[in-house]
Amino acid sequence: MTDETLPEHVRANREAWDRYAADYLEPGRESWARPEPAWGIWSIPESDLGLLPDGLAGQDVIELGCGTAYVSAWLARKGARPVGIDNSPAQLESAKAFQAEFGVDFPLHLGNAEATPFGSASFDGAISEYGAALWADPYAWIPEAGRLLKPGGWLMFLTNSALVQLTIPDLEADGPAGTTLLRPYFGMHRTTWPDDTSVEFHLPHGEWIRLLRSSGFELERLVEIQAPADAVMDTRWSIATGEWAHKWPSEEAWIVRKRG
Ligand SMILES: C[S@@+](CC[C@H](N)C(=O)[O-])C[C@H]1O[C@@H](n2cnc3c(N)ncnc32)[C@H](O)[C@@H]1O
Repeated sequence: MTDETLPEHVRANREAWDRYAADYLEPGRESWARPEPAWGIWSIPESDLGLLPDGLAGQDVIELGCGTAYVSAWLARKGARPVGIDNSPAQLESAKAFQAEFGVDFPLHLGNAEATPFGSASFDGAISEYGAALWADPYAWIPEAGRLLKPGGWLMFLTNSALVQLTIPDLEADGPAGTTLLRPYFGMHRTTWPDDTSVEFHLPHGEWIRLLRSSGFELERLVEIQAPADAVMDTRWSIATGEWAHKWPSEEAWIVRKRG
């Protein structure tokens, strides 16, 4: 698919992520270096959240919007066979450099997670941590994930919470979230911020459930992530302070399974 045939928001996000990529090198390296997965802006260990299924060894897993691809690296170290797809050539260059630096290799593809080149029912699992989960249109990428998965296959995606999306100040894509509802919940879908060109996507919870079910998924868990009581905001990810995120969910992880 040439740039011209990509949807407008996919082109905008490619240009934006090629620009952001340099800022994600150091966080990417830190995450690649972790021996065990730790999720989201509070780096909560997998042993606390349990977002991954058991028995990953030997599974074919697609990471939708892999960025620097540290999630795929974690999966590869657990014996899975990950494949990463990302819309940004610059992010994929970082991912390739980390593969060489850390000695973990898996296929990486340039492409749009909303319309991938892979065959139907070709993966056991699909995953996205702030990749397609935030930056691709759910009305396109969720049905595509459903197409890619085998019957019984799992999908886990993590993104910032509906509540954060409602309470981040109007002019600040980066937050931090406040205590006032600033925009409507109903109808929440596409967001652009005045100070940036990128396009984000969020849905109300009821709409996520409707879309997931109509795309062939059953909901297993919605994990609303609570920051630890002593959490301190990392200024690189400033969507919410630790105090705020201890009281209210700043991130949410959806775990669903394709009907068999
Ligand atoms: C926060 S990063 C990826 C998350 C990854 N866990 C990381 O931090 O490196 C978001 C990624 O989503 C990718 N992305 C945005 N829209 C996409 C789309 N439609 N298809 C595939 N990737 C997309 C961007 O290019 C970017 O690399």
